[in-house]
Amino acid sequence: MLRHPPISSKLPVFMHGADYNPDQWLHDPNVLEEDIRLMKLAGCNVMSVGIFAWAALEPEEGKFNFEWLDQVLDRLVENGIYVWLATPSGARPAWMSQKYPEVLRVQANRVRNLHGHRHNHCYSSPVYREKVRIMNTKLAERYAFHPAVVGWHISNEYGGDCHCDYCQEGFREWLKRKYVTLDALNHAWWTAFWAHTYTDWSQIESPAPHGESAVHGHNLDWKRYVTDRTIDFCRHEIAPLKAVNPDLPVTTNMMEIVPFDGLDYRKFADVLDVISWDAYPTWHEAASDKEQAVKFAFNHDLFRTIKGKPFMLMESTPSLTNWQPVSKLKRPGMHKLSSLQAVAHGSDTVQYFQWRKSRGSSEKFHGAVVDHVGHEHTRVFRDVAELGKLLARMTDILGTSTPAEAAVLFDWDNRWAVRDAQGPRNMGIHYERTVIEHYAALWQLGVPVDVIGPGDDLSRYKLIAAPMLYLCSEETGRKLERFVEEGGTLVGTYWSGVVDENDLCHLGGFPGPLRRTLGIWAEEIEGLYPHDRNALVLSDGNPLGLTGEYEAHEICELAHAETAEVLGVYRDDFYAGRPALTVNRLGQGRAYYMATRLQQDFLDAFYRRVASEAGVARVIDTELPDGVTAQVRTDGERDYVFVLNFSGAPQKVALDAGDYLDYETGERVGGEIALELNGVRILSRPSRYQGREA
Ligand code: GLA
Ligand code: ZN
Repeated sequence: MLRHPPISSKLPVFMHGADYNPDQWLHDPNVLEEDIRLMKLAGCNVMSVGIFAWAALEPEEGKFNFEWLDQVLDRLVENGIYVWLATPSGARPAWMSQKYPEVLRVQANRVRNLHGHRHNHCYSSPVYREKVRIMNTKLAERYAFHPAVVGWHISNEYGGDCHCDYCQEGFREWLKRKYVTLDALNHAWWTAFWAHTYTDWSQIESPAPHGESAVHGHNLDWKRYVTDRTIDFCRHEIAPLKAVNPDLPVTTNMMEIVPFDGLDYRKFADVLDVISWDAYPTWHEAASDKEQAVKFAFNHDLFRTIKGKPFMLMESTPSLTNWQPVSKLKRPGMHKLSSLQAVAHGSDTVQYFQWRKSRGSSEKFHGAVVDHVGHEHTRVFRDVAELGKLLARMTDILGTSTPAEAAVLFDWDNRWAVRDAQGPRNMGIHYERTVIEHYAALWQLGVPVDVIGPGDDLSRYKLIAAPMLYLCSEETGRKLERFVEEGGTLVGTYWSGVVDENDLCHLGGFPGPLRRTLGIWAEEIEGLYPHDRNALVLSDGNPLGLTGEYEAHEICELAHAETAEVLGVYRDDFYAGRPALTVNRLGQGRAYYMATRLQQDFLDAFYRRVASEAGVARVIDTELPDGVTAQVRTDGERDYVFVLNFSGAPQKVALDAGDYLDYETGERVGGEIALELNGVRILSRPSRYQGREA
C-alpha cells in the first residue's frame, strides 16, 4: 500500500494554517471574529493554538481560565477551522519561576538562569513536571474530544540542556543503567588518560567549560542523555493526553538539523504519531536558490524518513523572518514554490508562523499572514490564499509515498563525535556540509532519497551514500557489509570507521569495521589549509567512464588499495600516484571510496554514473537544468511529479516519453515544459512504482 491514512480522519485534506495566538488579543473580542473571516478567505483550515499560553490558562497558581480557549475552539470549528492544540510548556508564567526557582534552567557554567525568554526550563525538575502534568491533564479532560481538535502540538521546539542537581543525578542514573559498573564506564571513556579514572559514581558530572570537557566518550554520553531526558519529558507530557483519548495524534515541532544538533530527532520516532518541523530557508541570498533548496530538501527527506510516512511542515514564514541576518521578502512565485517543495518531499501540511503579527515584543516584525495593517489586501495574503485554493484541490496527493531507492546515511552520534574529535582539521571538517554535497548530486539528478540512520533497514535501497562515517560500530560495519554483499552500492569516504560507539579508536587499521567492505587500508590522514589544493586524476579506461582531473581540498587520506580497484590517483605532492578513488567488489555489490574531499562538480559527475550503474531511477528520465529538480509522490497507481525551479531564472525541461497531465490544468503535456522564474509544475502520470511497498 503506497497511500498512508490522513494525519487526522477529521480533516482528510491538506492542512493549511498557522500558529495562532488569540491569547495576545483577549482585550479585543473583534479580533477573533475578524481572524475567522480572514482565515476562511485565506483558505486556512487549521491553526496551532495555545503554544505559549500558560499565563493566560493559569494566571495564578491553581487558578485556571479556559473560557477564552473554549470560545476560540468553538468559534473556529463552527467555521470549519480545526486546531492543533498545544501544551504550553515551551514557556512558563512568571509566578512559577518566582515561587519555584528549580523550574529554571542551569547553564553548563552552573549558573541558574533568571526568568525570561522561552525554552528556559529544566526537564527533570519534579515541580515543573508536576505543573505540566496538571496542565496537560486539564487540557486533555476539557478538549481531547472537542470537535475542533485534530491533534496535540507538544510544547515547542524542544532543545537545550540543564545542568542542575536533578539533571546531574539523572545523568548518573542513566550512566549506571548503561554501564552497570564503574570499570565498564572507565574503560569506555578511556579515563586512564590524564588520570581521569572515577572511583565513585558521585564524582561524575556533566561536561562544563570550567570543568571536564576533554573526555570524548563523556561528552558523547551527555549528548545522548540530553536526548533521552528530553524524550522522557515529552513522554511525560503525552501520557495524560493519551490517557484520555489515545486516538488523538501527537507531534512536536522540530528544527532544521543544521545548525541545531542538540537532539537526535530519530529517537523521537516511537513517542510521536507524526513528525513535524519548522523550515526557514534564506531565499534570494544568491542568484540561484539551489543551495538553500538542497539544504531544505535534505531536511524534508530526513524528517519524512524518521517515520517513513508523510510529515507536517508545521512552520514556515509566509514572507520574511525577523531573526535571520537579513530579512528578505519572498519574490513572486517563491511562496508557492517553497511550500510545494515541502509537499513534494512528503509533507501533508503547509503551515506558517504566524497567523497575525504580534503587536509588541521580539517577533512583532516577523512575517505573518495578517500584517499590522489588519486586512486581506496585501501581497502576502494573496499568495497564501492562492496556495490555499490549490491545496484544497490536491486531496488525491494526500498520504502518498516517496519511493526512494537511494539513501544518505546521516547520524547524530557521528556528527557529535566528529566535531569533538580534535584533529585532523579543527578549523572545520564540515561533516554536515559534506553529507549535503553528496545529497545535492542526487537532488540535481532528480532521484528520490531517504535520509537514514544506522538503525534503519538498508535492504530496501540500491545505493547508500555514507560520507565521513567516522563513528561506526562493529554492528553498523557488518550491516553495511551485508548490504554490499547482497548487491547494494555503497559510497564511503576518508575519515570513516575510525571510532566505535564509545568514541574509542578501532585498532588494527582504519576504516575498522568497513575495511573489508571498502577494500582499503587508510594509513594516514591530514587536514589542509584553506589555500591548499590537490587533485584526483582519473585512471584511463576506469569502469565509471570518468575522465580528467578534479580538485581536492580540506582533507587527504593516504590509503592502500587492498582488494579495491584504483579508479583515480592523487596528482600532487608526495601523494602523487597514490589511490584517491577506488571501488571494491564484494559479493553481489560494490563499495566506492573517496580518499579526499572533492568538490561538487566531481560529486555530480560521479553520482550520475554510480546511480545509473546501481539501477536507481530518476523521477523523470531526462537532463534537468542546474538548480531544477524533480521529486515524486505516488499511491502506486498515479505518480505526482513536482518539477521545482530554484535556479533563479526561467527554465525548460524536456520530459521523457511518459504519459503526463498537468495537475493544475488537467491538460496533457509532453515534449518540453516551461518553468517560470521561481516556478513549479505538478504533473501526474501512470505510476512507475506499481507493486511497491510504502
Ligand atoms: C520558531 C518558533 C516560533 C517562532 C518562529 C519564528 O520556529 O517555533 O515560535 O519563534 O521560530 O521564525
Ligand atoms: Zn535540570
